[in-house]
Amino acid sequence: MARKKIIAGNWKMNMTPSEAVALVETLKPLVQNEDVDVVFGVPAIDIVPVVEACKGTNIAVAAENMYFEESGAYTGEISPKMLVDAGVKYVILGHSERRDYFKETDADVNKKVLKAIEHGITPIMCCGESLEQREQGITMDFIRQQVKIGLQNVTADQAKKMVIAYEPIWAIGTGKTATSEQAEEVCKGIRQCIAEIYDDATAAEIRIQYGGSVNAGNAAELFAMEDIDGGLVGGASLKPDFGKIVCYNK
Ligand code: 13P
Repeated sequence: MARKKIIAGNWKMNMTPSEAVALVETLKPLVQNEDVDVVFGVPAIDIVPVVEACKGTNIAVAAENMYFEESGAYTGEISPKMLVDAGVKYVILGHSERRDYFKETDADVNKKVLKAIEHGITPIMCCGESLEQREQGITMDFIRQQVKIGLQNVTADQAKKMVIAYEPIWAIGTGKTATSEQAEEVCKGIRQCIAEIYDDATAAEIRIQYGGSVNAGNAAELFAMEDIDGGLVGGASLKPDFGKIVCYNK
């Protein structure tokens, strides 16, 4: 069974609620591609108006983070129940910016992954090495650790439905894209790691995205690689160019 591509925007901390609705209206007609699952990852305050604006379209909405408790005294956090009730289908977890600026650990990411799955939200679990780690030759060691801890106690059937995003930190927001060979090498390595944790069937089904300076010019080449099942797109997801990325095969 061929894996369906999944192309997700990560708006990060951009777009007020009214700007968000205007952006959805601009992008709606541009992101029509039945070969691709299209996801908009938006700031928490934009979720409700963006879900409303996406009704009747092919666009699913992702949160950019989530807490791992059901409810309670966790000022400022958002629970999985809130996301489900608001119509969220995916959640980006463990983005390198959250790991770096907000000190999220692999163990935190694992708790969030388990909670999201429990509530029927599909995790987009991020991993990726720094430039220093790449230069030290420990890229795959580091990523295997992130993936193995992130997936602790996740069953094979649950893992099959998940999305993993490989985002080399040195390629994020830098305009310095990994070459399609570099991206493929790591995505293939992640798939091998999944086969070791689970089995070949799980590895064949889980979807692995590439993220890091994806744009309209490089998307087709990246997404043509055997183990790259789409992209997680930052800067270019805020522009009409996102339509060209989603329609990379047209
Ligand atoms: P850019 O596409 O802006 O490099 O961001 C990538 C990213 O971090 C997506 O999550």
